[in-house]
Amino acid sequence: MQLWKYHNPVRLSVGPGAFGQIAAAVAGRPYALVTYPEPVFADLGRRLAITTGSQALVITDFRPKPTLDDLRTCNEALAQHPDIGLIVALGGGSAIDVAKALAVGQGSQDRLLTALEADAPPDDAATAPLKLIAVPTTSGTGSDVTCWATLWDQENSRKLSLDRPDLFPEASFIDPELTVDLPWAITLSSGLDALSHALESLWNHHATPLSRHLAVLAAKAIIRTLPRLRQQPEEIALRTDLSLAALYAGLAFSTTRTALAHSLSYPITLRFGISHGIACSFTLPAVMQAALGCDPRCDEALTQIFGDLTLAPRLLARFLADLGVSTDPAAYGVEEEAWLGLIDEALAGPRGRNFIASDRPARIAEVLSRARPTEPDIEDDRSQMTGGR
Ligand SMILES: NC(=O)c1ccc[n+]([C@@H]2O[C@H](COP(=O)([O-])OP(=O)(O)OC[C@H]3O[C@@H](n4cnc5c(N)ncnc54)[C@H](O)[C@@H]3O)[C@@H](O)[C@H]2O)c1
Ligand SMILES: [Fe+2]
Repeated sequence: MQLWKYHNPVRLSVGPGAFGQIAAAVAGRPYALVTYPEPVFADLGRRLAITTGSQALVITDFRPKPTLDDLRTCNEALAQHPDIGLIVALGGGSAIDVAKALAVGQGSQDRLLTALEADAPPDDAATAPLKLIAVPTTSGTGSDVTCWATLWDQENSRKLSLDRPDLFPEASFIDPELTVDLPWAITLSSGLDALSHALESLWNHHATPLSRHLAVLAAKAIIRTLPRLRQQPEEIALRTDLSLAALYAGLAFSTTRTALAHSLSYPITLRFGISHGIACSFTLPAVMQAALGCDPRCDEALTQIFGDLTLAPRLLARFLADLGVSTDPAAYGVEEEAWLGLIDEALAGPRGRNFIASDRPARIAEVLSRARPTEPDIEDDRSQMTGGR
């Protein structure tokens, strides 16, 4: 049997009504709330201010896919409040990642920039990040249970990361009621991001029996739930299922990190402006095709999700096509020459090296370079991959 470990220190409160429990976790500590500027979040922020009684600052000056410029403004605001030792993030991955970057910067953009360039966190208690509480309002990124954050340096076309064990939130409150009004486009992109986290944790050198179990639960639930949510976006039972699935996917990839589909996605987001969730999911059928046969444990997990493995990549492509997501890079403006370059780049990156087929670059390049490798041209019984209900 494989020797394996698992560590995730985030205290979780999960389910409808979890939002009402945040005040007890804040416990009177002065905090900065990081959230979006839209009215619905201002209302939630006011509710939190009343129940907690210790909200010292509200930070909303950042955009989705936060940049270094966004962080400069946010750090300046935080610098005015040296009494703050806690950040509460209320939002999707962008808000939670801004909160993590602020926890590291503590009001100093220079401190944040130094941390972004460092390979490892400094061994110095004085630079320990501020405490974090995460309250996700999308069902996707898993940032509420991971210790990393993504910033986007558009100017230099770079994705920047914080990746350090002291960046796990101390607690996360996962309340599906917060996601009921999430527009369909974001429900779809964040839900597919979670599906990508689940599958990427399976075809991953760092997979464990526990991460595989969580990933199978997550992938089956996402495949079952997303098409139904499109018809019934306000159905709380479906929102609850998707929240749980995103959580399970987050817990799975908090151990393994991601793999080739994410490695491919970063330049596609930076250079072609495609949202993270779509960019990291439209290649999944092709990446799965390259992964098949590399590890029986991965094949077994994929069988549990998709049924017949010989059909699995095409079933997944069909699932995506039914949701309006093309598996053809050209549909995103990525022409053939650029695509071939991206494959080489992705394989060389750290996430590419997590991929279980990473020792077969020629095979990966061959599978991915076919113009439309997994064109969904079959009429099959899709119910076999949904696992029923
Ligand atoms: N740290 C990680 O582990 C991790 C993992 C994956 C992705 N990410 C990052 O997360 C970001 C994407 O996050 P996301 O997909 O959660 O979306 P997001 O946080 O970027 O939000 C997208 C939009 O959705 C709106 N929105 C969010 N919740 C809403 C709600 N409940 N109701 C109505 N509108 C709502 C926001 O106002 C925003 O305009 C990217 O920057 C990506 O790189 C981080
Ligand atoms: Fe992702």
